[in-house]
Amino acid sequence: MKNKKEIDRRRTFAIISHPDAGKTTLTEKLLLFGGAIQVAGAVKSNKIKKHATSDFMEIEKQRGISVATSVMCFEYKDVLVNLLDTPGHKDFAEDTYRTLTAVDSVILVIDSVNGVEEQTRKLMEVCRMRDTPVIVFVNKMDRDGKYPFDLLDEIEKELNISLHPMTWPINMGKEFKGVYNLHDKTLNLFAASQKATEDNTVPIPDLADSLLDETVGERDAKQLREDADLLEGVYGELDKEAYLQAKVAPLYFGSAVNNFGVKELLDTFITIAPRPLGRPTSTRFVQPDEDKFSGFIFKIHANLDPRHRDRIAFLRVVSGEFKRNTYFKHVRMDKDVRFSNPYSFMAREKEVVDSAYPGDVVGLYDTGTFKIGDTLSEGEALQFTGIPTFSPEIFKELVNKDPMKTKQLEKGIRQLTDEGVAQLFTQHGGNRKIIGCVGELQFEVIQYRLLQEYGASCAFNPLSFYKACWITGDKKKIDDFVRFKQANIMEDKDGNLVYLAQSEWFLNTEKQNNPDIEFHFTSEFKTQMA
Ligand code: G4P
Repeated sequence: MKNKKEIDRRRTFAIISHPDAGKTTLTEKLLLFGGAIQVAGAVKSNKIKKHATSDFMEIEKQRGISVATSVMCFEYKDVLVNLLDTPGHKDFAEDTYRTLTAVDSVILVIDSVNGVEEQTRKLMEVCRMRDTPVIVFVNKMDRDGKYPFDLLDEIEKELNISLHPMTWPINMGKEFKGVYNLHDKTLNLFAASQKATEDNTVPIPDLADSLLDETVGERDAKQLREDADLLEGVYGELDKEAYLQAKVAPLYFGSAVNNFGVKELLDTFITIAPRPLGRPTSTRFVQPDEDKFSGFIFKIHANLDPRHRDRIAFLRVVSGEFKRNTYFKHVRMDKDVRFSNPYSFMAREKEVVDSAYPGDVVGLYDTGTFKIGDTLSEGEALQFTGIPTFSPEIFKELVNKDPMKTKQLEKGIRQLTDEGVAQLFTQHGGNRKIIGCVGELQFEVIQYRLLQEYGASCAFNPLSFYKACWITGDKKKIDDFVRFKQANIMEDKDGNLVYLAQSEWFLNTEKQNNPDIEFHFTSEFKTQMA
């Protein structure tokens, strides 16, 4: 185990939330603790502006800038933290799902006022598919939010997870006085806009102590005692194993914008979050401390500037050591490739790296050789699994507007879908092409890029499909079904059979009529998205 020390000190994670819950603000505060940025606002200025929804070029421009913040590294108490950014805009949700395959744990931010929101639910489903350990941060305690016990209930029910409160708030909104750390038995007093170095903690090992009344007042002291009593009885000590197995999520309360509760979160995170984990492949499970290198591509970022048409493929190192200028096997293409300028995201600027270890993410210049999900190895024919595609939400037929450019259109759409911009479904036994996306914005991106980069012009005809379902089962039954439902049977880009259901009702009917066929909402079938 050559790299044990390097592996042990790494933590790779993502922050996820419904837009506006405070992901960007929390990211920034964490980076400030790690000394990775000096000034607050540095991340925020890169954020895709929420209001620019109709202007995708603006969004793409900002996505371009955000390459630099795609992976943010910082060191905190000797731990090397890799924080992978996820796009906040819901139309790019598929990017977020894929990024989640490259992390080992997540911090989920929930707005205390809005509670569990749509995107929170979806992201948690993706985490659950892979049993990703979660720490929950309830943000905006400086605002009048939901009653903490109600929130606890809501989160547990809606997200189907067991929570373990690590801190407990004393009031909220204008009355917010701080949080009591149930584990350390300290009272952390709230002050707006706390500096990273400020420490307003008062040790109160025994809640019966009158110091509590003197500090927060009699009424709040009484309430806290009651709450803590109740919590103690229900939750006891945090079971770290259960957290690592994604069965329990530790819960913190705070206010990111005021830098309150963030340090506690980070301190716990670096102590309990998992070190880089192994990953399954189609043949065996790869452990991080294996000597030989392996890794997979989870994201491809294209440069929209026509003068710089390079793409950047993001590689997550799973095992061994990634080395610059060293030949590795590109498994799908069965070809050796090497990289002279791989870069890491260690500093504020991208910088060329000579080596990278499990948990690290390396940016590779790509001229079109990579697809999402590709594996690199030191010779073994491994194929990492667990990088599924999900059923899109909007479907449109691709219409070629310039028959002279048919070849360009075919090539362009294939490359864009390899990048993960959208999903391409081709009619089984035909040539009809249907594009599936999560948001309208992606169609604009495709249309623009096909024209700019491939000289192909296209239009889209809206189709009213509900879901794409990958189908598996008895071959004869599948053959019959395919023959019978020809108009709705497509192939994904890897040739897998997909049934496009017009509505939930149609899907349920087909399920009932075909009990020997399984309908899956993702391209990998071990676990299911609802
Ligand atoms: P996101 O990345 O999850 O979309 O959220 P972001 O951090 O951008 O935060 C969304 C809004 O919530 C921001 O306000 C931010 O300042 C605010 N916010 C974050 N944490 C807290 C908190 O603890 N308390 C309160 N009261 N507000 C918080 P904005 O008006 O959209 O942007 P800005 O003008 O403040 O930058």
